[in-house]
Formats: sequence, C-alpha cells, structure tokens
Amino acid sequence: MSEENTIIRPLEYDLLFDFLRVVEAAAIDAARTMGRGDRKYSDHVAVEKMREVMDRSPMDGTIVIGEGERDEAPMLYIGERLGLGARPGNEGKYPQVDIAVDPLEGTNLCASGAPNAIAVLAAAEKGGLLHAPDVYMNKIVVGPSVKGAVDIDAPVRDNLEAIASRLKRKVEDLTIVVLDRPRHKKLVHEIGETGARIRLITDGDLSAGVSAAVAGSGVHALMGIGGGPEGVITAAAMKCLNGEIQSRFVLKEQLEQPEDRAKIADGLVERMEKMGISDPSRVYHTNDLAPGKKIIFAACGVTDGTILRGARFFGTGKRTQSLIMTTETMHVRFVDTVHVEGGPDSFVRFDRL
Ligand code: FBP
Repeated sequence: MSEENTIIRPLEYDLLFDFLRVVEAAAIDAARTMGRGDRKYSDHVAVEKMREVMDRSPMDGTIVIGEGERDEAPMLYIGERLGLGARPGNEGKYPQVDIAVDPLEGTNLCASGAPNAIAVLAAAEKGGLLHAPDVYMNKIVVGPSVKGAVDIDAPVRDNLEAIASRLKRKVEDLTIVVLDRPRHKKLVHEIGETGARIRLITDGDLSAGVSAAVAGSGVHALMGIGGGPEGVITAAAMKCLNGEIQSRFVLKEQLEQPEDRAKIADGLVERMEKMGISDPSRVYHTNDLAPGKKIIFAACGVTDGTILRGARFFGTGKRTQSLIMTTETMHVRFVDTVHVEGGPDSFVRFDRL
C-alpha cells in the first residue's frame, strides 16, 4: 500500500466516487433483472454486487443499516465490516465509516419494470447515522423552501397550507406523494379534502422523499408511514439537499390494533430500547436520524424515475444516472456515466441538457 493511503483526508475526498461506483454497479446488475417478476432475485443480485464493490473500497466500513441481522442475512448484515481497511493488517490506515445501504430500494418496482427503483446508500463518520431498526416510521419530507414550516403532529391541512404558502402557490397546486397502503386511507382522505393532488405510489418512499427536496421534480412533499431504515437514508439526503424530514417510529402492532395503544406502548418501549432507541415515541428530526457532520449520499437509477434515469444497455456499453452528494462540500452532483466497454459500437453520445 502506498504511503499516500495512510494520510487522513476528508471523507468526501476519499470515498465519494468509490460510493458512486458501488451504487452504479448494483444498479446495473439489478436493472438486468428488470421485469422478471422476481423481487428476491433482483434484490439478491444488487446486494451481491454492492457488497463486492464496497469491499474493494479504500475505507474501514461498518454496515449499520443493511439487509438484516447477521443470522438472517449472509451479506451486508448489520455489523458487517467491509473495505480495504477491514482486512487484517490494514487497521487504522483507512477512514472509518458507518454505512446504511438499500441495494435495491423498490424491489417490486424493479421486478415489474415500474419507475423509481434505485440502488442507494448513505455513509458518515462513526455514529453519524441512527441505527434504525426495521420498523415502520411515520414521515413528512419537504424541500429547502419549506424547511421549518411543517410539523408532523399538526393537522394535515395546516401542513399543506404551510407548504403552499412557502412555495407561493395554492394548496390545489401541490402534489403530495403517499405510499398506496390501506393504513393511509385517512391520510389520503384528509389530503384530498384540502384539494391538493396526491400521487399514490406502490413502493419507493425513499426516492419520493428525495424528489420532494429537488425543485422541478413535481413532488412537493412525502407523507405517511414507510420503512424506518429508508427514513434514515432519506435524512442523509436531506442533510445534503438542505431539506427536512420529521419522523416517528410506528410498530406493526400499532397499525394493526390502534385501539389497544396503552398495551402496545409498553411493548414498544421495551423493544425499541433493545434496539438502542431510548424514546421511541418522540419525533425524530433530520439531525436525529443523520447526526453526522460528514455525510455522503449516493443513489443510482435502476428503472427510469422522477429524478434519475434507469440503467440503459447498448451494444458494448451501459449508461447510468446517479445522484451523489456530501455535506462536506455541499456539492450535489447528478452524474451521467457512460460505461465504455470497447468494441466498434461502444460510443459516447452527447445529450444536451
Ligand atoms: P423494498 O425495496 O424492500 O421492496 O421496500 C420498498 C418500500 O416501498 C419502501 O420504499 C417503503 O419504505 C417500504 O417498502 C414500505 O413498506 P410496506 O411495503 O411494508 O408498506
């Protein structure tokens, strides 16, 4: 190993483009399985590739949000150490990073060829990402101009009026993304009553949350209950995009038996404490979910989506579109990569933006 590798440098300098390669590789392999109707297989190839490329990266990485506990997931399990720095003899030579991965966010979307499947991860210095358990989370996600104007505990109408006011438009001109689930019947009704438009999605509230913080995406907020791990990765994106997420953990039992709140609350506290969440009933803000100072977010489109195109294949090449960002420099990069593989029909075409 060269002496240069032992110099401590900012996280972004070392790892931003390594993580770009990681999500690109996972997205390409997952995209090859698009439309086969086998979500588990699509997920499997994304996990395998993400792990393989990550393990070659110049870091000492620990998975803090991954495919599950060690006994249930052979790869990218919580606590797995990856990267050159995790190899014997390399201790202390590479930056230590905590990593939250979702190798294929929207497994059903990929399996059916539907929009907005992505390969995604967030990374930070040690302790920079909440170790969120795999439970549901109620979320509201908004972009920079709406930051500070919403309150997850406020009535839906108040939040939508606040969003409309900050965006200088009528409530009727808002589009709110909500996961299409029976648990959202009341939420959808309440949004509908205000006159705001609703985009019901079958899956993928992480990419919808990111879109809410990107002007021009046509998405003004994400609301409703989705995965907790997705909430942490969304928070990492919000730190980079200057957006906001407010969230609260929700156990499955709470959804199924809301009338039995007191009993469930006891069990909830106990379970969450074991998972390291001391006060599960409180609101978790962007900084609680992603407290890190050196956060990296990387996502690559698998299928075509709202803000990222899916992986495309041609002759002897491939093309991917990714979003890579970091709080260290506050640079938000949309990266259009042509993976040139040689041969007569491997060419780069210029697309005017
Ligand atoms: P997968 O990528 O694991 O298929 O999850 C997709 C997703 O739709 C997330 O975007 C969302 O947070 C979660 O599942 C919602 O969970 P559920 O399908 O149980 O409502």
